[in-house]
Amino acid sequence: MAKTVELIIDGKSHTFPVVEGSEKELAIDISDLRDKTGYITLDIGYKNTGATKSAITFLDGEQGILHYRGYAIEELAEKSTFLEVAYLLIFGELPTKAEYEKFTTDITKRTLVHEDIKKILDGFPSTSHPMGVLSSLFCAQTAFYPESLNPNRPPDGVYLSIIRSLGKMPTFAAWSYKNAIGHPVNYPDNKLDYCPRFLKMMFALPGQEYEVDPVVADALDKLFILHADHEQNCSTSTVRIVGSSKASIYSAISAGINALWGPLHGGANQEVIIMLENIRKDGGNIDKWIDKAKDKNDPFRLMGFGHRVYKNFDPRAKIIKKAADDVLKKLGVNDPILEIAKKLEEIALKDPYFVERKLYPNVDFYSGIIYRALGIPVDMFTVMFAMGRLPGWIAQWKELRDQGEPIGRPRQVYTGKTKRPFVPIDKR
Ligand code: CMC
Repeated sequence: MAKTVELIIDGKSHTFPVVEGSEKELAIDISDLRDKTGYITLDIGYKNTGATKSAITFLDGEQGILHYRGYAIEELAEKSTFLEVAYLLIFGELPTKAEYEKFTTDITKRTLVHEDIKKILDGFPSTSHPMGVLSSLFCAQTAFYPESLNPNRPPDGVYLSIIRSLGKMPTFAAWSYKNAIGHPVNYPDNKLDYCPRFLKMMFALPGQEYEVDPVVADALDKLFILHADHEQNCSTSTVRIVGSSKASIYSAISAGINALWGPLHGGANQEVIIMLENIRKDGGNIDKWIDKAKDKNDPFRLMGFGHRVYKNFDPRAKIIKKAADDVLKKLGVNDPILEIAKKLEEIALKDPYFVERKLYPNVDFYSGIIYRALGIPVDMFTVMFAMGRLPGWIAQWKELRDQGEPIGRPRQVYTGKTKRPFVPIDKR
């Protein structure tokens, strides 16, 4: 018999169905709660609210498990490529050789952006944060591809928007950096693969040869895989909620980029490096900074620590910690902040404050150290996260569309003034 739960309000019983996920996750379906009882639920920050049924990513925060479409993140990070993972997330299965070739060729054909995008870019002062530039350029595609505004686009139109998003994202990302340093932009070199092409657009200088280091390109590819999706986090929920109004895919993803920017979300990778640098400059007194993080009168938090869902360990952080060691060794980089990070982690993991609150290093704790070793400037760290997260946002947007989900519209408990008469001010 199907499982149900009973809710008793003022002595009256109401029955609600229980929904079970494929990994045995349980949810109470309260979609008709208000109709049946007149009540709504209150869950500020959506800590216990399932906003959708999704077949893309499974994560178990207690056990530190992360799967994309049923494949373990550890296995994908070791054996797969970013574009293969992108295909998997978006279309549900790993591609065959022919599908993969078509997908990568289609993307490569769409790496160029309209020349007028350069005029928009020129309007940004060089002080602009690359995340703001990225979200603006991404949204500007609605102007160059107005057909994307049609909510009833046929499937081949949707496919084209997906391919354009993946093809142009590295170009926008590299150009947002060039704008920040006041250099001329580079055009995509379509003889190269996805990550090498991006690196060349980022770092090649006029009149100079630029050889992509395969160690750097491989490390970036792996980081992108680790960031590719993370179910209903802040930016993904933003993409879904904007998409639910049937706005264009470009505006939905642009909104996701803005949500990711914040220091409590993807912006944490930039903040981690700033924090580690501050600790180093301050003489490396880690205990002092741990005490600051524990002090409720001090707004400082240990950046790269804690997670809404992971309460044991973040499996991505485990892989990234090892990758940080490997990459720095391969590149011959000796970064003193890696040692500070490891010591900080060691001390925090033994401290009752962090143990009791189940605060562990998250994906952002070590990723910044790798980005730094790869030569990526700090302001671009969150842009790297956005590039990696793009396939996840696309997959979630597509799933919402395919499932014909209704517009997202939470309710509230009103706590303002009750009705009162309007008294005009005396203007005499
Ligand atoms: N340093 C010090 N204390 C912390 C930290 C931290 N990094 N994170 C949480 N706490 C404390 C918090 O003060 C609270 O203590 P108390 O119960 O005494 O009031 C308790 O732990 C629970 O924290 P919360 O803020 O209620 O937890 P949350 O689930 O709302 O927030 C978080 C999760 C990730 C926003 C938070 O842990 C945080 O601010 N971490 C630092 C920023 C960061 O690294 N963000 C990246 C997240 S992973 C990448 C991504 O997917 O975006």
